[in-house]
Amino acid sequence: MTSAIPATKPIARQFAEPSHYWYARCKLATDPLYAAVGDALRETIAPLLDLGCGIGLLAHTLRARGFAGSYAGIDNDANKIAAARAAAEHADLDDVRFACVDLTRETFPAHRGSVALLDVLQYLPPQAADELIERAAACIVPGARLVIRSGLDDADARTRFTRAMDVFSRGIGWMNTAPKRYPTRAGLEALLARCGLSASFAPLSGRLPFNNWLIVAERG
Ligand SMILES: C[S@@+](CC[C@H](N)C(=O)[O-])C[C@H]1O[C@@H](n2cnc3c(N)ncnc32)[C@H](O)[C@@H]1O
Repeated sequence: MTSAIPATKPIARQFAEPSHYWYARCKLATDPLYAAVGDALRETIAPLLDLGCGIGLLAHTLRARGFAGSYAGIDNDANKIAAARAAAEHADLDDVRFACVDLTRETFPAHRGSVALLDVLQYLPPQAADELIERAAACIVPGARLVIRSGLDDADARTRFTRAMDVFSRGIGWMNTAPKRYPTRAGLEALLARCGLSASFAPLSGRLPFNNWLIVAERG
């Protein structure tokens, strides 16, 4: 069962920029993502690397529910990283840091622990997305988790809606790139198995007709 997100408004209030405030309020109120990731990381204390962290909402929601591991978020959007840093400082979040890194160009950060990869894969070229999953999987130590949310390519109406919303996000300038490819479930399962991880898949779309899935993978 997925838990409710605590304290939507107090988290949103940490963001000074009105567009970020309203984005945080709407996102936290409507998307079950952060509660589901909190559940997936419950009882883990392994350090977390959040790849494509955006404005860092996951750090706030995890701290609000008592996640005690260190948190590092990286993203290639300098404006989002600046907003993430400022909000985390304003909220006085302990052991949280952010860096501006392009996941397709720069060296993958040294990390051992859990990894979150939430709504990011579709923005990367297919080969870069697969390589990123392999690098993320190599970070996963026993007891840690690789938590992915992604649209899956099922060639159905939900997949088309998911793509349309990602194209819309690019059109209004919220995203700095357009969607490229959605992985298939079979492709992801095979890739994670080759990396030595066993994975569970569960639908996670909220009230809108996305084709989003939560994938939680562990070693062994
Ligand atoms: C839909 S947002 C998801 C944000 C965050 N993971 C969340 O769920 O709240 C996708 C994020 O991926 C980031 N991104 C896209 N391509 C990237 C790349 N090549 N390197 C790093 N970050 C990237 C975007 O800047 C954006 O913040």
